[in-house]
Amino acid sequence: MSSKRSWLTAVFAVCAVVLSAAGGVRYVSYGEARPTVDALRDVLPADLQGKTGAPLEAAWSTWVAAHDRDIRARLAAGDEDTIVNWLLLGTSFTQQPRAFIDVPASRPQELSNVIGARAHDLVSALGAAGADERRLFARAFFQKKGYRLESAAERTRLEQYLLTAVVRVNAEQARFADALQTLRRLGDQSEAFAERSKLFRDRGLSLDTSIQPSFALEQSLRELQTRGLLAPGSVHDVAVIGPGLDFSDKNSGFDFYPQQTLQPFALIDSLLRLGLTEKLDAFTLTTIDLSPRVNDHLTRARQKAAAGSPYTIRIPLDRSVSWTPEFLSFWNTLGTRVGADSAAAVTGLPSGVQARLLKIAPAVVSRLNVDDLNVVVQQFANRKFDLVVATNVFVYYDVFDQALALANVGSMLRPGGFLLSNNALIELPSSRMRSVGYLTTSYSNRPDDGDHVVWYRRTAN
Ligand SMILES: C[S@@+](CC[C@H](N)C(=O)[O-])C[C@H]1O[C@@H](n2cnc3c(N)ncnc32)[C@H](O)[C@@H]1O
Repeated sequence: MSSKRSWLTAVFAVCAVVLSAAGGVRYVSYGEARPTVDALRDVLPADLQGKTGAPLEAAWSTWVAAHDRDIRARLAAGDEDTIVNWLLLGTSFTQQPRAFIDVPASRPQELSNVIGARAHDLVSALGAAGADERRLFARAFFQKKGYRLESAAERTRLEQYLLTAVVRVNAEQARFADALQTLRRLGDQSEAFAERSKLFRDRGLSLDTSIQPSFALEQSLRELQTRGLLAPGSVHDVAVIGPGLDFSDKNSGFDFYPQQTLQPFALIDSLLRLGLTEKLDAFTLTTIDLSPRVNDHLTRARQKAAAGSPYTIRIPLDRSVSWTPEFLSFWNTLGTRVGADSAAAVTGLPSGVQARLLKIAPAVVSRLNVDDLNVVVQQFANRKFDLVVATNVFVYYDVFDQALALANVGSMLRPGGFLLSNNALIELPSSRMRSVGYLTTSYSNRPDDGDHVVWYRRTAN
């Protein structure tokens, strides 16, 4: 290497260190994790079990980096689940009815034919030319797994793979349904909630999102305000952990609009509507996610906003569901503080579906800080928030990971700050986080269609 190139390499290396320090994301140290490790000795991961003192401390830094990699590796399995869901419910690549919705499991032969035809249509669509973002994503996903689409034999091979993936996902869903049924029979509702809060601990990390949890968050924020726990104008720095990406809505399978994220914008909108945030120019909103798909999507939205373009969101409403009047009112008003409805009609609507087309103002989108951070094993070195929200995130983790994540969130909150989550997390005596209440919100008259949002508060010291 020439001396000029080695000099440049050294400069780049220094820049990289400075940049990552400016981002301020780092692994949780053994010293910081120690109260959690000490309290949960019985459930420690195998690599940490049976160790104490210096050997445990030495094992920690290796474990924490390896665990970060293992958690991030779960994203690929989640992506496959998302594609299977799209296969079963999507309407952009097939004329077939939606599996399990239009053709229920009580008609097994018809269902099996529909799923076979859907798999065939999906693979044909993936093989066809076109720049549809979902197809590009699925094509790249399967190419990485060694599947090609050029010949009929290769397409049949992918169809067969997809059908085995459908069987796997269905078996998993059946196990979740059984587990939920057992939990419903548990007399102790808080124990049932705690168990339900880690239901997906062995599952791939999925990015699914919808507006429902944002409604539950708004209801909780209103209640916190009513009870005097949050004062008007007191919320300045906010973080959304796991904003997610709506690829194909997991309940209805809507794929008639481009991929989008909702929660960060819905949250700013709620805070402004409730008067908990008064001025946008003194407000920051940080998104925290480990998914490159989520982070790249938000980074692109921010870049476009810097060039003056709004962020467009479609807010679908399935008219076949009996939504609560409160949810309908939320659907009607969502986004009006951060953007405006477009006069253009939403195209490609399936029958029985209505949708709003909302343009989020560039000035709002520009307020986003997008951070890659794994909340189980990483913290910010120097950033503090008044409010952190995390819905449908901790449910992917078991008790030790959840306890680490809660401590990490505690380190990001100012004293008195809140974490709102729809999962129940273990509160260790050493933790600086305490649950101070919860609110149950129903979305519709369907059984179990709602969320309990728990309010965790950072103690004063
Ligand atoms: C199922 S989505 C939930 C989306 C949205 N919060 C909602 O409730 O609709 C889970 C999100 O959490 C993110 N996530 C999962 N584990 C995470 C972790 N350890 N650290 C940061 N983000 C995580 C995923 O990448 C994804 O964006």
